[in-house]
Amino acid sequence: MAGRLEGKVAFITGAARGQGRAHAVRLAEEGADIIAVDICKPIDVVPYEMATAEDLEETQRAVEALDRRIVIGHADVRDSQLLRATLDGAVAELGRLDIVSANAGVCGPFAVGEELKDDEWNTTVDINLTGVFNTVRAAIPHIKAGGRGGSIVLTSSTAGLKAYLNASNYVAAKHGVTGMTKALALELAPHFIRVNSLHPTQVDTKMIQNEALYKLFCPDIENPTRADFEAVSLGMNAMPVPWVDAADVSNALLFLASDEARYITGAAIPVDAGCNLI
Ligand SMILES: NC(=O)c1ccc[n+]([C@@H]2O[C@H](COP(=O)([O-])OP(=O)(O)OC[C@H]3O[C@@H](n4cnc5c(N)ncnc54)[C@H](O)[C@@H]3O)[C@@H](O)[C@H]2O)c1
Repeated sequence: MAGRLEGKVAFITGAARGQGRAHAVRLAEEGADIIAVDICKPIDVVPYEMATAEDLEETQRAVEALDRRIVIGHADVRDSQLLRATLDGAVAELGRLDIVSANAGVCGPFAVGEELKDDEWNTTVDINLTGVFNTVRAAIPHIKAGGRGGSIVLTSSTAGLKAYLNASNYVAAKHGVTGMTKALALELAPHFIRVNSLHPTQVDTKMIQNEALYKLFCPDIENPTRADFEAVSLGMNAMPVPWVDAADVSNALLFLASDEARYITGAAIPVDAGCNLI
């Protein structure tokens, strides 16, 4: 049976691990070829490790094991020129571009707004908002050139729809992504290019399973653990789960990327176990 994305090519940022890797594998399972980009090096002010070159190679192996083609590239989404050159080269190799998952992002550092330093604000906004814009801007000409429309999916967050304490940089950037989605959906609708945003609650990846985030959500505990955070996180969702899996987000991405969603555009889709309801 043909996959739901047979003959299509998908560009995914932040693809070395976590949701990005899950997205690459899920879309490849449905027949897509993959362009997988990641920074693969640490970012100074972010309080946990980024992915490595080995992580990105692991994504490559996982996609190749599905008999799909994949081109990988190291690029920082803040570097619009390098990102564009990397994408241009990959599209030349794979022949076309149909789907974008602007997924790369960071979470933290955290502080009350008045204490956030310039580089702490700028790093989050540069990656989570401008980096998403750089990703989409580089991709649009290729999707248009393909002449078959396309699907662009921007990874926002529940923080793109509601507020969290001590995270004005993250909340502002993710709300910006929600707005960008609608503006680009309007611009690109005449080309049958759809633009939607995803809004996950906590997803069980390294972005949340780290000490800095445990401290954000468990401020009253001196050395909070995964179990401490799990208890707090459980209370943040309407459904009785502390977090969702990356695969849950990948399945929503797959639907939006597929022709089954051919008239869905400008939508903000929660994958949040009801987090936004409480
Ligand atoms: N994990 C969660 O709870 C959660 C919840 C809601 C939204 N999100 C969003 O989901 C997306 C994916 O996060 P994840 O959970 O897979 O976390 P993750 O930290 O495991 O993965 C993020 C990936 O992005 C890469 N990256 C970071 N900055 C980059 C840059 N400047 N250029 C290129 N690549 C860069 C990292 O190396 C990493 O591989 C992010 O946009 C995040 O904000 C995550």
